[in-house]
Amino acid sequence: MRIGVLTSGGDAPGMNATIRAVVRAAIASNDKIFGIFDGYRGLVEGKFQEFSRKDVSEILNKGGTILGTARLPEFKYETVRQLAVKQLQKNDIEALICIGGDGTYTGALRLHEMGIKTIGIPGTIDNDIASTDLTIGFSTALNTACEAIDKLRDTSSSHQRCSIIEVMGRYCGDLALYSGICCGAEYIITNDTGFDKQKLLEDLKQNRLAGRRHAIVVISEHLTDVYQLAKEVEQYSGYECRATILGYVQRGGAPTPEDRLLAARLGKYSVDLLHEGITGVCVGIRKNQVCYTPIEEALAMKRKPNEELFKLVQKIS
Ligand code: F6P
Repeated sequence: MRIGVLTSGGDAPGMNATIRAVVRAAIASNDKIFGIFDGYRGLVEGKFQEFSRKDVSEILNKGGTILGTARLPEFKYETVRQLAVKQLQKNDIEALICIGGDGTYTGALRLHEMGIKTIGIPGTIDNDIASTDLTIGFSTALNTACEAIDKLRDTSSSHQRCSIIEVMGRYCGDLALYSGICCGAEYIITNDTGFDKQKLLEDLKQNRLAGRRHAIVVISEHLTDVYQLAKEVEQYSGYECRATILGYVQRGGAPTPEDRLLAARLGKYSVDLLHEGITGVCVGIRKNQVCYTPIEEALAMKRKPNEELFKLVQKIS
């Protein structure tokens, strides 16, 4: 087969490990494999390069993506996608492996509807794809967040402060929930918990009165202005309070072994599926088994909040 591989949307640690696995698995199956640069934009512009095994040496442990990535909102227009299909036809490429999040999956689905054999691989720090238990990049971002929160705990405790830490995740609370549990946060606020500001202020005030020296609040992005919230905490609770937005640092760095392993498994599995003639699907991991789901179905699935973890938080935070 002649297969293209691209990364699209926000980058995630482990994308390079995924590219490496796809390229090497394809070459081992006697396929020709083409790296497509800068996501769907590069696809439309015909930025293709045939890859050898050696082209993906020394990238397994590197953050970012050697292919580059982009967000291309114009890809929703059929006329734009037709340009992409033409480029693929011109290069005789029949199949495409697209690494990214749900925006990437939507692009892959539309191309599939236009006759291209596509496979989606979940590469995003957000862990917001319902068809897989884990996305590539989540483990590394979680590690990064935990390292930062541990450090913030040191200084909060020394100064007897409340520390509010905003983590990424788009509209998915997993980074906040998992990092909050792992770092013993007193409060974890996500889309799933909802945000009751008055209750938080009152709880912090009671904690302060009870003599607790410091407090850690981990909150998902997009819920509130954390700098403003820090001011309100100071006024109401008696704690000095500082807010930190962890931001893009969560997207970088060497992938964890968990992300590298997931990347290797899903990259190789995607090539296998193409050989079996299974396309228009996205791959994932469920109960530690690789699996696939039609992309259309995956996009319609809603991620369920992890009840067990939420109950645990109520008991031990
Ligand atoms: O999807 C990954 C992510 O990092 C989200 O957590 C965040 O909301 C978003 O991308 C930021 O996107 P951009 O790189 O376009 O600012």
